[in-house]
Formats: sequence, C-alpha cells, structure tokens
Amino acid sequence: MIIKLKNNKKIMYQFSQDLQQVQERINAFLAQQLNLNTAPSPLIEAMRYGVLLGGKRIRPFLVYATGRMLGADLIQLDYAAAGLEAIHAYSLIHDDLPAMDNDSLRRGQPTCHIAFDEATAILAGDALQAFAFEILTQAPALSAEQKLALVSTLAQASGAKGMCLGQSLDLISEQKQISLAELEQIHRNKTGALLTAALQLGFICSPHFGDKTLAQQLQRYSRAIGLAFQVQDDILDIEGESEVLGKTVGSDLMADKSTYPKLLGLDGAKQKAQELYREAISTLDELPFDTQALRAITEFVVNRKS
Ligand code: IPE
Ligand code: IPE
Ligand code: MG
Ligand code: MG
Ligand code: MG
Repeated sequence: MIIKLKNNKKIMYQFSQDLQQVQERINAFLAQQLNLNTAPSPLIEAMRYGVLLGGKRIRPFLVYATGRMLGADLIQLDYAAAGLEAIHAYSLIHDDLPAMDNDSLRRGQPTCHIAFDEATAILAGDALQAFAFEILTQAPALSAEQKLALVSTLAQASGAKGMCLGQSLDLISEQKQISLAELEQIHRNKTGALLTAALQLGFICSPHFGDKTLAQQLQRYSRAIGLAFQVQDDILDIEGESEVLGKTVGSDLMADKSTYPKLLGLDGAKQKAQELYREAISTLDELPFDTQALRAITEFVVNRKS
C-alpha cells in the first residue's frame, strides 16, 4: 500500500511488518506480565501456554492501530491490548473444552485441557479473566475515569451481553435450523463483541476519549469487521488447511454448528464477507485520520488463511 504524505512524499506502509512488530511487542509484554511472582504451578504454566504459544494478535493490533491513529501513548495501549488478549485467550481455552467445542488442536498445539487437564484448563481460563481486569487497572498515566471505562467496556464485551452470551447461543444452536438474524446475533456476540472492544479500548486511551461522534463511527467500523471475522472463521472451517490454520478443519461440520456457510452456502458466505468488508472500508472513508493500518487489517480479516 502506498501512502501519500502532505508534502507529496510517498512512503510504503507494510502491513505484515507492522503486524509482526505488534506481535513482538505484545508477546514480550504479556510474557513479562505473566511472569507472576509466585511459586511455579500447573495453573500458571497453563495460563502461559494459553496466552503465549502463538496467535495472530489481531485484537492487540486493532487496539494499537486505533490508539496510534488517535494519538494515544503506546505504553498505555500495551495494558489495554494485553487485557483484551488475555480475555480472548481465556475464551479459546474454554471454547475448546469437551463441554464446549471439544477440540484437540489450537494454534498448532494440543489444546490446553489436553496439554494439562480439564480442571487446570478451566482454572487457567478463570485466572486469565481476572488477570485481564487487574492489568487494565495498572495502566500508567491514565485517569481513573479512563481506567473505569476500560474495565467497564471489556466487562460488557466479555460477559452475558457479549462473548459469553454468544458462546451460549452458539452451543444451543448446534443441530438446529436457526434464522439468519439469530446467527448474526450469535456471531456479533461470540466474536464481534471483543473485536468492537478492541477499537473502544484504543479510543479510550486516546485524547479523543469523549468524542461521541467518533465513538459511533468506530463502532460502525468495528461491528462490520467483527462479523466479517467470524464469517471468515466459518469459511476456513470448510476450506482452510489444518497445518496453516492450526485448528482441526471440519470441526463445525462435526458438531453441526450453525454457521454462515451452513445457512448461505460457501459462496453466499464469501459474498457476505465481501459486503462487510466494503461496509467497513466505507466507514473508514469518513474518518479524518490516517486509517492505513485499519484498512490493511480489514483486508487481512476477510482474506486470511489462518
Ligand atoms: C479464533 O480467533 C476464535 C474466533 C473468535 C473466531 P483468532 O483467529 O483471532 O485466534 P488466534 O488468537 O489468532 O489463535
Ligand atoms: C469462537 O468461535 C468464539 C470464541 C472463542 C469466543 P469458534 O468456536 O468458531 O472459534 P474456533 O474456530 O474454535 O477458533
Ligand atoms: Mg465455539
Ligand atoms: Mg471452537
Ligand atoms: Mg470456528
């Protein structure tokens, strides 16, 4: 992607380089923060296993990209991104449990309950959830009002009005015919809510916190990519490659999950992802900021193979 600056100089924005730098930064920060000052225990090993071994770090990327675009301090973004990624990691550990999706491969490794045991995996998820909120309260140089907004935003996105609601609806919709509107509600909650939170957390850390119009524009954008992300996840369950994906392909088919390809067919699901892509890009067109990183991640979300 070529970016034209105001002085007419052109620079090249390289998404893969930017993503790699974000991955290195957040991985180092999470590793340091999870170096808990306690005696070694299976619980802490399982937490580190669930967080540190791989992952694309899309949610942290969205936090940093939004925060950087709006002039937030990178160090404060570390705390916001780490809190969100800890919730995401906990959601994956629990998602893979026998009582939920019963999956054995995650990020190319045995799932947490297989590498450890079920009780340890449940507790590692629980402890990561607590860790997420603790870390948000520790962000340096943010006002108490900003920290409260971070905690409240992440709590709403994670709980019974967000990710957990979506996960519950997903499970009770196995082996059932549901409507497209019901499926959209599942996906917006189980996956979209945390992606929307990523934009909100970056925004809260920025000097624009309080700008309601901007908050709404970011919300429109993030709802579009949040849904697009799960539509593409559903598509990859059918046409992805296990070695690239790091997950077992066909897991949704085995469980007879309600997915976009099941309701719309594979081509219909791909069209839906493209529609959401265009919607997301059109909201970025309205923003008076440098949106290059968000444009690039939007494209990545609908074209990714892993
Ligand atoms: C997988 O999320 C779970 C969904 C919400 C679809 P990611 O595809 O972001 O997983 P990692 O973190 O890169 O492994
Ligand atoms: C997972 O959806 C959503 C959350 C973990 C919150 P999926 O069950 O489709 O995710 P994968 O495919 O196992 O990564
Ligand atoms: Mg699931
Ligand atoms: Mg799953
Ligand atoms: Mg999936």
